[in-house]
Amino acid sequence: MNSKIIISKYPAEFSEEFARILVDGLKSSGEYFHIALSGGSTPKLLYKFLAENYKSKIEWSKIKIFWGDERCVPPDDPESNYKMTRDSLLSEIEIPDKNVFRIEGENDPSEEAARYSGILARNIPQLNNLPEFDLVLLGLGEDGHTASIFSNSLQLFESKNLCVAAEHPGTHQKRITITGPVINNAKQVVFLATGSGKSSVVDIIINKKNGFDKLPAAYVNPHHGDLIWLLDDDAGRNILPY
Ligand code: 6PG
Repeated sequence: MNSKIIISKYPAEFSEEFARILVDGLKSSGEYFHIALSGGSTPKLLYKFLAENYKSKIEWSKIKIFWGDERCVPPDDPESNYKMTRDSLLSEIEIPDKNVFRIEGENDPSEEAARYSGILARNIPQLNNLPEFDLVLLGLGEDGHTASIFSNSLQLFESKNLCVAAEHPGTHQKRITITGPVINNAKQVVFLATGSGKSSVVDIIINKKNGFDKLPAAYVNPHHGDLIWLLDDDAGRNILPY
């Protein structure tokens, strides 16, 4: 695993860095570029930047879009990661509907986890008998969770499943999430974390400080891929970029 840390002062800077990663990845990808997007609030700025600045600079029809996790809500629910992505990016770019693989949060969680596992297995090239994403974009919770893998479910980094039903330990909101082996089988994993609220957890994970091994995000180590941290100054204030 190669890793890199990029610390940017402004959202436009880390967004531009991500766009560069995406453009470079597209150049070296096969017929399609398979990406798993993150939910939460952090990537909203990134998605809007891509919509505003890369609408015509990226061949979006070459990209197949999946999600790393979803809340178990309907697609028009304010909590929906799909809705956030549709409103900030998908509605602004030319991408065929057939390239967008939504996690159907309105379905029964266990049934949807099984369905989406099949979607991943059938629509993404395999390596090591696992789907190999070209790029997985992850957010980071202040508690160290990523996707919807929480500290009470570290075993999901050893899961035999591609996708499982999960539950937020605080809100008990039902979730669907891809599992650790899928994340760690990707060609590139990008963590996007911004804001001073994330500086402590970023420090603990990157600098392997006390308790890092209890945090799910610490287990993101793409075994044959690259790990890139995209941080703003606030989230990266305890980190020396390399
Ligand atoms: C989700 C995300 C989750 C998110 C982190 C950070 O569905 O909420 O997948 O892992 O990335 O909780 O969320 P913020 O970007 O809102 O801080």
